[in-house]
Amino acid sequence: MAIERKRKLDVSSIVPASKLAKVAAPPNVGAASPMFADQASGSIFNRWNGKPYSQNFHHILDKRKTLPVWQHKEEILDALKKNQVLVLVGETGSGKTTQIPQFVLEMMMVETTPSDDKRRKKMMVGCTQPRRVAAMSVSQRVAEEMDVTLGEEVGYTIRFEDKSSPNTVLNYLTDGMLLREAMTDPLLKSYSAIILDEAHERTVATDILFGLLKQVLRSRPDLKVVVMSATLEAEKFQGYFGGEAPLIKVPGRLHDVEVFYTAESQRDYVEAAIQTVVQVHMCEGPGDVLLFLTGEEEIEDACRNIAKEIGNLGGQVGPATIIPLYSTLPPALQQKVFEPAPGTRKIVVSTNIAETSLTIDGIVYVVDPGFVKRKVYDPRVGAESLQVTPISKASAEQRKGRAGRTAPGKCYRLYTEKSFDKDLQSQTDPEIVRSNLGTTFLTMKKLGIDDLVHFDYMDPPAPKTLERALEMLYYLGAMDDEGNLTKLGQIMSEFPLDPQTAKTLIVSPEFNCSNEILSICAMLSVPNCFVRPPKGEARRKAADEAKARFAHIEGDHLTLLNIYHAFKLNNEDPSWCYENFINYKAMKSADNVRQQLARIMSRYNLRMCSTEFGSRDYYVNIRKAILAGCFMQVAHLERSTGHYLTVKDNQVVHLHPSTCLDHNPQWVVYNECVVTSRSFIRTTTDIRGEWLLDIAPHFYEMENFPECEAKRVLKTLYKKRGREMEKSKNRR
Ligand code: CDP
Ligand code: MG
Repeated sequence: MAIERKRKLDVSSIVPASKLAKVAAPPNVGAASPMFADQASGSIFNRWNGKPYSQNFHHILDKRKTLPVWQHKEEILDALKKNQVLVLVGETGSGKTTQIPQFVLEMMMVETTPSDDKRRKKMMVGCTQPRRVAAMSVSQRVAEEMDVTLGEEVGYTIRFEDKSSPNTVLNYLTDGMLLREAMTDPLLKSYSAIILDEAHERTVATDILFGLLKQVLRSRPDLKVVVMSATLEAEKFQGYFGGEAPLIKVPGRLHDVEVFYTAESQRDYVEAAIQTVVQVHMCEGPGDVLLFLTGEEEIEDACRNIAKEIGNLGGQVGPATIIPLYSTLPPALQQKVFEPAPGTRKIVVSTNIAETSLTIDGIVYVVDPGFVKRKVYDPRVGAESLQVTPISKASAEQRKGRAGRTAPGKCYRLYTEKSFDKDLQSQTDPEIVRSNLGTTFLTMKKLGIDDLVHFDYMDPPAPKTLERALEMLYYLGAMDDEGNLTKLGQIMSEFPLDPQTAKTLIVSPEFNCSNEILSICAMLSVPNCFVRPPKGEARRKAADEAKARFAHIEGDHLTLLNIYHAFKLNNEDPSWCYENFINYKAMKSADNVRQQLARIMSRYNLRMCSTEFGSRDYYVNIRKAILAGCFMQVAHLERSTGHYLTVKDNQVVHLHPSTCLDHNPQWVVYNECVVTSRSFIRTTTDIRGEWLLDIAPHFYEMENFPECEAKRVLKTLYKKRGREMEKSKNRR
């Protein structure tokens, strides 16, 4: 069998595919016997949509065949035929993400009759991605490779966006979305094969999928699983499946990369990075540059500054095309990084996405400042935050590798060699040991995993983390004393939101403001809607003024609501958005998210209601509803120090500079904590201490409350409350 298939491959590699196409079977034969319409075999008809293959198809096919994984196609498929699970390691860019799912699909098809449409769904291949951007971008590429329309035969599914259809045979989806699918389809019956891609990223969702798939495989002997990874941790994956899964390594074809270190550590890594990029552009030969930075703002700033500096050099240097790449970038702009920029040097400034998820061809120079923005969680204080942290050695090596794909390259590490040796961890910890597991536990419970503590984790979370997550779900009322999901918990798990936001939404009818809370939750689920104009004092000032017009003095949640209302009142007009420095795309997507959430609400008969706008309680009710879900995200202003301390954990935090609050309220509820040079709470709203006693007395009880000013204030409030009750009793 293997030999036969090999011979077939050989033929197609000797005869150019375009020639083969011309001698292929006539149309009616091709259509009637799609068994032979294998892409590699050279039929002129696309088995997926019956249309003749385009010129582009053959053009890309020739290129695809040069990818390293093609040399191992036989071996890979053979191993997968004989085993349920296969672990595949390959250098980034070797074609894992784009090619392997197509190989697997092809293999699955040989065993079914492709014209049998009913079975199509059953043979769907799912390929998970930790990053939304990768799912979108790769599916687009693969649709092109298979010569079909994205959203039809090849699709993608990410939170709040499903671009797949009943015709979809290959779907790229985030690992989180596959977990959610498992909630309604526990045996993953719609898939014949699941590919866990980027397994080395060790996201929480992928880790949980590992455990889940291990169970599912026992009940589904027909299911195939491929675990794909860019790094050597692969042995660990193999071990996890009892060592039975074969491991195939696809050797990369990396060229030498020369590494440079700085002599001293850099105080300002962004500035150092910009200077290095400009230097490379000035002094080095042809080849594109890839600079790793940590986030959207930093990247946009750096892009502007690089452009400015290169501009200042005038005619002394060649032209450059500077391209940002980060997850919240609109898809059309993300695609830009793959487009050639003839006659200029491409300078890509990217987050970690470009480390292993996306491969950009033509990179010869890598500039690596050595930082990444990561989720950090301290279970002792219960706060999860995004922090800029040093990368691991494994990451540094991956980044370096990006420079040597097409030719010998250079990698500039903006830290000292000593620092590389001594300071960098060898591997990044799996996300599960540095996350708040509230959301995950809710999903796991819904998946029917009863014992969260003894689940078959590849790396178990710390006991303290487990405890904190269970405690949180308990306080939110999602779990009872025995650790079972309550009715409320069941409904919470249906929302693709974190538990606090889900709870806010579910209880909002009780505060007579579900319409408004729905809008706020939708706004919180999309990228920042404020546009910061990159250039010009005057434009920036105009943007600030525009923002100030929407500002609600009681807080940022209400400001978001104002903007949503204004957007709807102005008929979702893009030019209105432009004039007001509002991101139109973000608003449209908030509107879409709102509809999706509304559908889930109606499924559970959650009433849509509003307090009368003229009423004094209109905003009060909204603020109370937010608190009802987020009562664990409260900070208190300490009179003695002038600092905010988070409730119960007593961490010093600051209002984020973006806040609309023009005063420092005594109590605030916040949406998230971000840590840069300091800890900031972002999206904050003014609340009243009394509400804490009314809304979350079980959390704000004084016995389990550390000594602090907040506690003293609360005690006074309790006393006052007691006296008032006494008085009213006496009056009666
Ligand atoms: O997954 P892995 O890193 O092994 O490689 P891949 O993502 O499948 O990429 C294989 C090739 O496809 C690379 O040369 C990419 O540059 C190319 N590719 C592309 O041209 N456009 C995309 N949107 C994605 C990949
Ligand atoms: Mg990949």
